[in-house]
Amino acid sequence: MIAILGVMLRLFPIVSISSNYKFLVHTHSHVALLGWIYTALSTIICKQYLQNANVAKKYNRIFWFTQVTIIGMLVTFPFTGYAFFSIVFSTLFLISSYFFAWLIFKYTPTKLKQRNSYKLIRIALWYMIISSLGPWMLGIIMQTSGQESSLYKNAIYFYLHFQYNGWFIIAILGVFIYILEQHSILFSKKAFNNFFWLLNTGVIATFFISILWMIPPFIINSLALIGSIFQLIAFGLLLKLVKINKSKLNSIFSPFLSAILKISAGLFLVKLVLQLTVCIPLVADVVSYNVDFVIGYIHWIFLGVVSIPILIFLFYYQLAIKSKTFLAIYILGFVLTECLIFYKGIVIWLELNLITNYYHYLAVASGIILLAIFGIFLIQLKSKNRSSIILKH
Ligand code: HEM
Repeated sequence: MIAILGVMLRLFPIVSISSNYKFLVHTHSHVALLGWIYTALSTIICKQYLQNANVAKKYNRIFWFTQVTIIGMLVTFPFTGYAFFSIVFSTLFLISSYFFAWLIFKYTPTKLKQRNSYKLIRIALWYMIISSLGPWMLGIIMQTSGQESSLYKNAIYFYLHFQYNGWFIIAILGVFIYILEQHSILFSKKAFNNFFWLLNTGVIATFFISILWMIPPFIINSLALIGSIFQLIAFGLLLKLVKINKSKLNSIFSPFLSAILKISAGLFLVKLVLQLTVCIPLVADVVSYNVDFVIGYIHWIFLGVVSIPILIFLFYYQLAIKSKTFLAIYILGFVLTECLIFYKGIVIWLELNLITNYYHYLAVASGIILLAIFGIFLIQLKSKNRSSIILKH
């Protein structure tokens, strides 16, 4: 659904579509973050932590309630944008996500709670809860400062920052470290403490990147820069652990999944370097007001840094059937769309001319991603052997 909506959005400049662009963007972004990433991540976390906790009934209730709220958003946002029913479904989603966090906090077995990976999952869930302060504040801000105010924008940026830099990325690292722990690849106590604190101080300090568009005093840039450097060092610590245990790691993931994992590590590294460069005021000025750079960056994170590892984990746990061909096509579409979006960003920045038929190329490249996702999806439906049970009854 997200890919179909995304391609529809990319078709707007080429064909006449009788829908409201803004409403479709709202649908696309909500269903992408909550329907795909949230659902997949929460499923993997349950698979890791609650498999033997005897909570299948509670889990199923929360799961299906959450899906109803997402479907509610899917059918209301395209027609009404932000209006009564879509806001009701979004609010109910937030509430069900609190229940999910409660389920993990309460029912994770004590033994698993001792693990480093759990510490990451726990804080990731807290970031998810903290991020929700953004949407709760929107109502109040709308009544007081209005929808056009800086405060309104910053509440949205607060939500997005703690969603993807806090909840999504830290949870992905937690899931990965859990898999390493299962194979006795462990951080030393000191190394983990350093990794954990650098990473999390980084999450909080890099929030300041989200307000650089306001051209704040230089101290804000400096704090954002320190946070970005901390995160680079933390990632370096993780890479060191992986490098030391390279041969063990090769026995965990198949050569294909290892290669894809390396690609996503590369994408994450580029993200960390980009967030570092954006702290330079001159760069921040250029990037903040260039829609294509922003959209390119957002999709770099969601389609690359976040969705690719999630697919790897789903394949690893056999929650989804692996398809090398379609994953390769997905990566091809991702690379092509990113090149085209950043190319347009550069053209606008340098006031050059776009190549003719640019929007056609972008639509076709986006269609390649849709094709790949459709392929992966069809394989799940066709397979008789898929593991459909997440938690034992
Ligand atoms: C075939 C795949 C995709 C295509 C073609 C696509 C395309 C688009 C387009 C055209 C926009 C509107 C940009 C604008 O005018 O503001 C957009 C926005 C957005 N997309 Fe995607 N997208 C895809 C996949 C995804 C995925 C997988 C995610 C996340 C999991 C995602 C998250 C978002 C978000 C959060 C926005 C809102 C950005 C904003 O409001 O500034 N997209 N996408």
